[in-house]
Amino acid sequence: MSPSNRNIDRQLPLTKRPRRLRRNPSIRSLVSETQLTVDDLIYPMFVMEGENERVEIASMPGCYRYTLDLLLAEIAELYTLGIKAVALFPVVPDAKKDDTGTESYNPEGLAQRAVTAIKAQTPETIVITDVALDPFTTHGHDGVLDADGVILNDETVEILVKMSVSQAQAGCDMVAPSDMMDGRIGAIRRGLDAHGFTDVGILAYSAKYASAYYGPFRDALGSAPKFGDKKTYQMDPANAREALTEVELDIAEGADIVMVKPALAYLDIIHQVKANCNVPVAAYNVSGEYSLIKAAAQLGWIDEKKIIMETLLSIKRAGADLILTYFAKDVALILHHK
Ligand code: PBG
Repeated sequence: MSPSNRNIDRQLPLTKRPRRLRRNPSIRSLVSETQLTVDDLIYPMFVMEGENERVEIASMPGCYRYTLDLLLAEIAELYTLGIKAVALFPVVPDAKKDDTGTESYNPEGLAQRAVTAIKAQTPETIVITDVALDPFTTHGHDGVLDADGVILNDETVEILVKMSVSQAQAGCDMVAPSDMMDGRIGAIRRGLDAHGFTDVGILAYSAKYASAYYGPFRDALGSAPKFGDKKTYQMDPANAREALTEVELDIAEGADIVMVKPALAYLDIIHQVKANCNVPVAAYNVSGEYSLIKAAAQLGWIDEKKIIMETLLSIKRAGADLILTYFAKDVALILHHK
């Protein structure tokens, strides 16, 4: 019996053999269902006062607080790597914080100055500004409080509108309300339009959960709440249907892009949101998700580059069109050197 006959004799009676499409890299790339490219990534960055300094965030190795001059240099480099969108977070000195976060709408505030400088240097870079009071309030909450410490919704929304308008005046491309107050998307849309900023978009943190995965970010900004937690405004991790309600409201109020945050423990939410709406869906691969991978990589327990790519691919496969991720630069470098 010839070797080939022997082969045939042993063949199972299979007509469907999925392995045919996995035989080599060329076939695999032809049939690959999901692509991860730098085009889909938004890089969250931290800016601080001062000059010529960058400080690594202890719980986020590889992420820095930059003074504006160094931030500009980094953003220019990112642009050459194909990263064309940044989400900006200012580190606010304690001396500038107060109970109602008035610094948030100071036209000369750090975020506003940074936006103007970035757009002057690299106009093609999309600058997305965070709209929430927590970095600006002494108590660290995303809203103003009454005497009993209750977060007041409508009073907060009024300040968020002022903050959004001042960011638009500084030249941002999109505002990203991350506070989870009710009705803020509609109010911000009306405020922007009334000031002539009809082209400034809204990336809404629509389904933002009360998550422990934000810990390292709060270290980075020194923005952890001084009392209590954020459970009266951020969502309960147990809820999925409620996320669809939040998304529906935000779209009705004028959101251009809706977001689910965090990403990895909420891939099911990303999937459901994608299936239920027709606007682009973003996912925020948050600080704690970043730190877990970086920590395991530093211990030598995982293959960092492969884990980064597999993780971000999973977020896209779940349905995210865009990803905010601290891995954006890592991904760009990995893809360039592939
Ligand atoms: C502030 C804000 C937070 C994040 C983005 N904007 C933290 C929070 O709500 O406490 C978290 C981002 C991250 O963990 O990477 N409203």
